[in-house]
Amino acid sequence: MSNEQQQKPLIVEGKLADSERMKQDSNYLRGTIKEDLKNGLTGGFNGDNFLLIRFHGMYQQDDRDIRAERAEQKLEPRHAMMLRCRLPGGIITPKQWLDIDKFATEHTLYGSVRITNRQTFQFHGILKGDVKPAHQMLSHVGLDALATANDVNRNVLCTSNPVQSELHQQAYEWAKKISEHLLPRTSAYAEIWLDKEKIVTTDEEPILGQTYLPRKFKTSVVIPPLNDVDLHANDMNFIAIAENDELIGFNVLVGGGLAMTHGDTATFPRLASEFGFIPLDKTLAIAEAIVTTQRDWGNRTDRKNAKTKYTLERVGVDTFKAEVERRSGVDFEPIRPYQFTERGDKIGWLKGVDNRWHLTLFIENGRLIDLADKPLKTGVAEIARIHQGDFRLTANQNLIVAGVPESEKEAIEAIAKAHGLMSDAITPQRENSMACVSFPTCPLAMAEAERFLPEFVSHVENIMASHQVADEHIVLRVTGCPNGCGRAMLAEVGLVGKALDRYNLHLGGNRIGTRIPRMYRENISSAEILAILDELIGNWSKNRLTQEGFGDFLVRTDVVKPVVNSAVDFYEVQEAV
Ligand code: HEM
Ligand code: SF4
Repeated sequence: MSNEQQQKPLIVEGKLADSERMKQDSNYLRGTIKEDLKNGLTGGFNGDNFLLIRFHGMYQQDDRDIRAERAEQKLEPRHAMMLRCRLPGGIITPKQWLDIDKFATEHTLYGSVRITNRQTFQFHGILKGDVKPAHQMLSHVGLDALATANDVNRNVLCTSNPVQSELHQQAYEWAKKISEHLLPRTSAYAEIWLDKEKIVTTDEEPILGQTYLPRKFKTSVVIPPLNDVDLHANDMNFIAIAENDELIGFNVLVGGGLAMTHGDTATFPRLASEFGFIPLDKTLAIAEAIVTTQRDWGNRTDRKNAKTKYTLERVGVDTFKAEVERRSGVDFEPIRPYQFTERGDKIGWLKGVDNRWHLTLFIENGRLIDLADKPLKTGVAEIARIHQGDFRLTANQNLIVAGVPESEKEAIEAIAKAHGLMSDAITPQRENSMACVSFPTCPLAMAEAERFLPEFVSHVENIMASHQVADEHIVLRVTGCPNGCGRAMLAEVGLVGKALDRYNLHLGGNRIGTRIPRMYRENISSAEILAILDELIGNWSKNRLTQEGFGDFLVRTDVVKPVVNSAVDFYEVQEAV
């Protein structure tokens, strides 16, 4: 073994994290969930089941707004589950949507459906007694919540590109195939939620293994020039390479990820590394080899250091890549040229090459709910009743009504307008702003995000208008804690929650999502952030080059030093200017 390899062990020895024991003891994800469901004494799941249900697409949560009040009354927290569907590429039929809409109205505490930035939807606030009916409803419409959380390959993203319909269809088929190929094989899900008999006598998980992956694993299929899925937030990425509108293969990029921990410099966001090009027929073999390499080499002693990005940093990109080639029997070819030019969704109507129309509806924070003045959720259901195409959930928390014939266009627009789903008043700035869920449901939330964003954007809009750049936009994202679900670490302006109205302010990402923003100020209030933005946006409006984005401007004018190699320079202190 060379010195280099000795310094970088392929496998981290040491005491395994407790989650490893939990997976080992779970009997292929069964645990005692079935028995626990019968226990009506608590609204939550006990012991290991609390974590195990995540493999079945659920998080146990409680309403944090009333947590202290309930503790005072000596009541257990008001437990309820968040349930996340598996929906590769975000495509869903109107018929499926109507059942989902109905379930949210009748069986959830919040009565909403949330479109997430991983192209799926979540129900928030399902009480324990309604959990099984939720899975059965999904199954009834041909969906499931399998492997949408915890240490598995999660919902696979695919660029929502309805315009180039054939290329999209081909890429989307691969997103589905990859998702299915990497699913757990255990029949635990069917047994627990769908009352199926145990189908096999011995379980086997040939890809994921008996203890599944060391940590969550995320995959995207992306069609340039639109990086709407934010590929660098994902462990494994397939960039579609087409010739004459025919998909011929993928550039493969590995090891992106955004989560970090406040105060722990061993954690950092990281861009995915280029491995190379592969022809289409090698896709599943490569996907499997990447997953099994991470399965075997990922750190199982420390969950904060377990993601693919840290494995790559530890063993080296070349070593990891060589192992993938060895396991798959496929050699990567040199990366094929590709270019990203944009990221957000194009709100409004677009005509596809097949002469069908596609309407992208802007859904603020992805939250579909009936508000007094805007019955958004009812509006989408009304559209679903007449729509003949499909719906596409985007990675920017929006909804595309896709494949509308000319004859239906007017009727759909009328419904959308009547329900507040279409409005001329939405600025480019609001369209390019995003937040994670955070309070009140997320147990990890440190600062407000979804509830804070709308008003914060109004302030930013005023600043933009006062500097005559109201028709411009800055990619702005807020995430309620450093786990990074709001993808603030790929924004031009990223806020990372620390405490009530305290955020770290990151600046200097770029519009296409290929640069990580650097921390500019630590632990400051939203008022302080707005004052900083006021000054910097003023400079940008006066001194920018033609078409120069805010993040690029800040880097070019030395306001922030760009993050080049985050493993080394993410925590370099930005000197105050
Ligand atoms: C250590 C890392 C992370 C942990 C522990 C974590 C945990 C959670 C939890 C508990 C929720 C549920 C919140 C709720 O719905 O009430 C959530 C939501 C979500 N997370 Fe994460 N997360 C992590 C990192 C990430 C990252 C890096 C991404 C994407 C790049 C992501 C994407 C999402 C999405 C899409 C949702 C759904 C809601 C939304 O659109 O904001 N997560 N996460
Ligand atoms: S970033 Fe933090 S607060 Fe926001 S949803 Fe994710 S875990 Fe919760």
